[in-house]
Amino acid sequence: MDTSKLFSNLKLDSMANIPMYLQIANCLTAKITDGQIPSNTKLPPERQLAEHFGVSRTTAISAYRLLEERGLISTRMGSGTYVNQAEPSHSAGLSVPWEQLFIPQHYSPLASLLRSLIAAPAAGEVISMAAGLPDPALYPVELFERALHKNNRLDPADLGHIPTEGYLPFKQALSHWLQQGGIDATPETLLTVSGSQQGLYLAVKTLIEPRDYVIVESPTYLGAIQILESAGARILCLPQSGSYDLGLLEDYLIRYRPKLFYTIPTFQNPSGRVASLRERQELIALAGRHRLPIIEDDPYSPIYFEQQPPPSLKALDNYGGVIYLGTFSKILFPGLRLGWIAAPQAVIHRLALEKQYIDLHSNNMSQLILQKCLEEDYLPQHLKRIRAEYKKRRDAMARALNQYCRGQLTFEPASGGFYLWCKIQAALSPSELLHQATAAGISFVPGEAFYTNGSASQEIRLSFSAHDPRRLQQGIAILGKLLTAAPVHPARPLPAAGRPII
Ligand SMILES: Cc1ncc(COP(=O)(O)O)c(C=O)c1O
Repeated sequence: MDTSKLFSNLKLDSMANIPMYLQIANCLTAKITDGQIPSNTKLPPERQLAEHFGVSRTTAISAYRLLEERGLISTRMGSGTYVNQAEPSHSAGLSVPWEQLFIPQHYSPLASLLRSLIAAPAAGEVISMAAGLPDPALYPVELFERALHKNNRLDPADLGHIPTEGYLPFKQALSHWLQQGGIDATPETLLTVSGSQQGLYLAVKTLIEPRDYVIVESPTYLGAIQILESAGARILCLPQSGSYDLGLLEDYLIRYRPKLFYTIPTFQNPSGRVASLRERQELIALAGRHRLPIIEDDPYSPIYFEQQPPPSLKALDNYGGVIYLGTFSKILFPGLRLGWIAAPQAVIHRLALEKQYIDLHSNNMSQLILQKCLEEDYLPQHLKRIRAEYKKRRDAMARALNQYCRGQLTFEPASGGFYLWCKIQAALSPSELLHQATAAGISFVPGEAFYTNGSASQEIRLSFSAHDPRRLQQGIAILGKLLTAAPVHPARPLPAAGRPII
C-alpha cells in the first residue's frame, strides 16, 4: 500500500499548542483505528515521514514511539515499521473504546524512553551503555542467600500486613546504618518505599499542586522530570556549571517562591558531578534562610572510586528542610524495590498516608532480608568489591574514549556512580547518532532526555556499569567509528521548542 497518498491530505498546525509529534501520532492513530491504514501495512521510514511533514527526524521518531506505546504499530528488526494486527473485536463488533475513556494524561515522550531503558538489558547482543543498572554479575546473590538463611525461623506474623511506614526491625537496622553515614534518622523519621522512584513520587504528590514552581538542576534525572511534569509543576532550571549557582537559586526563590528544590548532589545523574562540602553548606544556609524544602536524591553516594564524597545535605540539614531519598537498587539490585525516605516525622506521617493509597506497604521479604544484611554488617565488604569493579569499568571506558573518540567527543571525569557525561563534536544530533548506534549494536541515552525545556543538546550519557571492561572497549570502538564517519556539514537544527525527545 502506498501510504504517502494517505498522508497527502494530513496537515499539521504549526501554530497549535500541540507538539508536532503528537499531531502526527494522532493523525495516524485516527487512520489506523478507522481502518484506512490496514493491519500489516508497512509505514514509511522515519526519515521519509519527517520529510513528508517537514519536521525533524527526532519528531518523526517520537511520533512512532508514541504509536508503539499505544500498541498500534511495531518495529520489526531490519524490516521496518508495521501497523499491528487490530485487536479482535468482542461480541458482534462491540468493544470498549478505551482510548476515549482514559482521563486526559500528561504524555511525555520520556515515558517510553524510561521504559525502554529498563527493558534494555534483555535486548540480547546489544552493548547497552544506556540504562544505569548494576551488572547482574555483581549482584550479591550469595550474601543474600546467607541473609535468607539467617531468617530461617520466619515468624508468620512477619508475613502478614505490616505498617505502611515499614517493617520496624528493618527500619531500626537502617537507622543504625544511616547514623554511621552522619544521617541522624530514628525509625520514626524513616519511611520504607518500593524504590526511591516511589519516594520521589510520594514527595511530589504531597507537596506539589499544578502550576507550583519547582527548581531542578539542568540536566537532571529523567524520572524526576516525568514525575514533576505529570504533577503539573512549572520547572525552573538551575543550569549545571562547576557548582550550584546560588545567586540564580536565590533569584528564583525571591521571584517565584518555588515549593522545592530537587537535587542529586553526589555523582549526579547524568553529569556525575559531586557538590563540594562548601557548596553544600552554602546551599543549606540559603535554603534554611528561605525555608526551602530540598529533595535530596542519593542513589549513588556509596559507589565512590577515590575519596569518600562529602556528607549528604541531610547530614548537614540544620533547619529540618531536607527530604532524603535512598535506595538499595544501585548497590544491591533493582529488583529488590527497596528504598527509604528520611524526613521530619510530620513529613513521614503525611507521606505514609499518601503511600497507603497506592501501596499498603512495601514488600516484607525485602525488608526482612535487608534487616539481616545490615545487622550482620554484610554490606561493607560488598561495597568494597563493587567500588573496585566499577572503578575498573570507569577507567576502561575513559581509556577507550580517549583511544577511539579523541577529537570527536569530550567527557566529564566521574569519581563515582555509573555514568560518563559526554559532549559530541560531530555535526550530528545525539538522537540520530543513537539511531545509527542501535543498528550497529550499541546504545546510550541522548542528552536531550535530561532537559526539561527541549533545549538542543550535543551531549550523551554513557553508562559503564553493566559491562566488563572488554565489552565496554568494544562498545566505545563502535561509537568511535560512527563518530568518525559522522557528517561534517552543520547539523540539522533540533526543534527549538517542545519537550526533549528521542
Ligand atoms: C537519580 C535517581 N533517582 C532515582 C532512581 C530510581 O531508583 P529506584 O530503583 O530506587 O526506584 C534512579 C535510577 O536510575 C536514579 O538514577
